[in-house]
Amino acid sequence: MRAIDRRCRVAVLLSGRGRGSNLRALVAASRATEFSASIDLVVGTSDSDGCRFARAEGIETVVIPYGNGSGVGKIDAVFEDELDRLLRSRSIALVCLAGFMRILSSAFVDKWRDCILNIHPSLLPRLRGLDTHRRALAAGHVEHGCSVHIVTQGLDMGRVLASSPLTIKSNDKPESLAMRVLELEHRLYPRVLDRYARDIVLS
Ligand code: GRF
Repeated sequence: MRAIDRRCRVAVLLSGRGRGSNLRALVAASRATEFSASIDLVVGTSDSDGCRFARAEGIETVVIPYGNGSGVGKIDAVFEDELDRLLRSRSIALVCLAGFMRILSSAFVDKWRDCILNIHPSLLPRLRGLDTHRRALAAGHVEHGCSVHIVTQGLDMGRVLASSPLTIKSNDKPESLAMRVLELEHRLYPRVLDRYARDIVLS
């Protein structure tokens, strides 16, 4: 892999109590000299484990308070305007949603077209939305996994950049599946970010 002299500036977004395990994986990967992205900003809708981790790592961390802590549902234009200003003021080129369960408006997504990535716990296009592990078991799927996709106006509808599959075991419960999928997420997201950010840096 050829070393690059310029890195893509990335912001990671979390919502609610955001435990931030994907954030940790992205930050750990970004420490490698050949990684094409740097995590320069973390934004949360409330102070969370993820935000505290980022601060402790010396990453600029901003809380734009929103909602009651649940972290799901739509978000309003006031929040998005503030977020947009913040991202631009820090010269952010790419946004990674990592446990950001809020739905961004079409206007915001349009402004940041092709510049927002998300990790989703299913093999998209299967099982868009919430509660994917329970739904995978209820539907009798034999395969499950996670996907990284570009965020567009439709929920979990954007182009899939890569997926990572696993085989569901007969004794799997939603919790055991969630744990195994999360391990895949931690490997997949950094890999996809590195590749995607490299194209931006070299373009
Ligand atoms: C992950 O399951 C991810 O797929 C989904 O939100 C969860 C975030 O977990 N989008 P964490 O905060 O990164 O541990």
